[in-house]
Amino acid sequence: MKSLYLNYRFLYLLLSYPLISCEPEPIEVCNTDQQSLYQRYDFPVGVAIEPPHTTEPIVQTQFNSITPSNRFKPEFIHPQEKTFYWHHADLLVDYALANEKRLHAHTLIWHEQLPIWMENFQGSKSDWEAMMKHHISTIVKRYKGKVQAWDVINEAFLEDGTLRPNIWLKNIGSSYIEKAFQYAHEADPEALLFYNDFNLSFRPTKRKAVLDLMTNLKLRGVPIHGIGMQSHISTIFPSDQDFISTMEKITQAGFKLHISELDISVNSISKEKFELTDEMLQRQAQRYRFIFNNYQRIEKQYQHGITIWGVSDGESWIPNYFGREDYPLLFDEFFNPKPAYCGLIK
Ligand code: XIL
Repeated sequence: MKSLYLNYRFLYLLLSYPLISCEPEPIEVCNTDQQSLYQRYDFPVGVAIEPPHTTEPIVQTQFNSITPSNRFKPEFIHPQEKTFYWHHADLLVDYALANEKRLHAHTLIWHEQLPIWMENFQGSKSDWEAMMKHHISTIVKRYKGKVQAWDVINEAFLEDGTLRPNIWLKNIGSSYIEKAFQYAHEADPEALLFYNDFNLSFRPTKRKAVLDLMTNLKLRGVPIHGIGMQSHISTIFPSDQDFISTMEKITQAGFKLHISELDISVNSISKEKFELTDEMLQRQAQRYRFIFNNYQRIEKQYQHGITIWGVSDGESWIPNYFGREDYPLLFDEFFNPKPAYCGLIK
């Protein structure tokens, strides 16, 4: 009996040896002193911020692109029909200019975070088009030459690949998408214009619908330069293969690729009781590295950059929005670097 056990044990060791030896080395905790994430990569490395965090030293030293998490959304920047609120957006733009950061603005047209007046707007199709044009043109013209890229349309598709029945589709029809791009382009012909959406690597039908429409519009001369894969993912979903093949499909279709809202959940199945383990942090670190390393391999002309959706775990949108504990970002709530950061800087 004992020898059988020993044999099995030997067999197990033999079989598992290659697996054990392939395990990446654990990532040691590091510090941010004299190290800079964006200098480590030759594509823009961005972060989503809210105005108070513009002064956070980590933003200054680690990132060379910023995206406003909320302040360019319609409810903030256009609170009343005849009133735009520029103060916070201006602060972000001034910060970017003064500190030589690229500003990728988010987002002109969306179905969420709309001001009440916009949701309740009454009028004909041409009134709606004029209202949308006024919204887009006023904002894009104000920041012409200062904002380098825009998410023009956010989340226009449902998971089944049909167009989301938002206020724009209902009142203008599907042409609202190409019109939005045209209005933005007229307002700043130099700006790079993006379509942005979630679950593109997880939902093949949705991905195909997005790529088909964007390719078709581009062929017809609509000024669409890139596609944003939001990438609110987890240590488990989607598979590495699905993520990589989605990146390839987007670039092969001739679009710049923005990994636009990256965060990697360690608690995607929402367990009620949850203990953050070192193993989870290591897995998260490996996933961040995997994505950055693969993005690095993309042809330069298609690299728009990777934007992390928030600076520290303490301000991530995930706990609030999904009502669960989570730690998806590169820095902990005290702005200390996590293995995820250290793995990327290594
Ligand atoms: C989130 C912000 O981070 C939160 O602060 C806000 O409460 C809700 O919106 N997809 C998007 C982003 O395109 O605009 C969302 O940002 C996250 C999901």
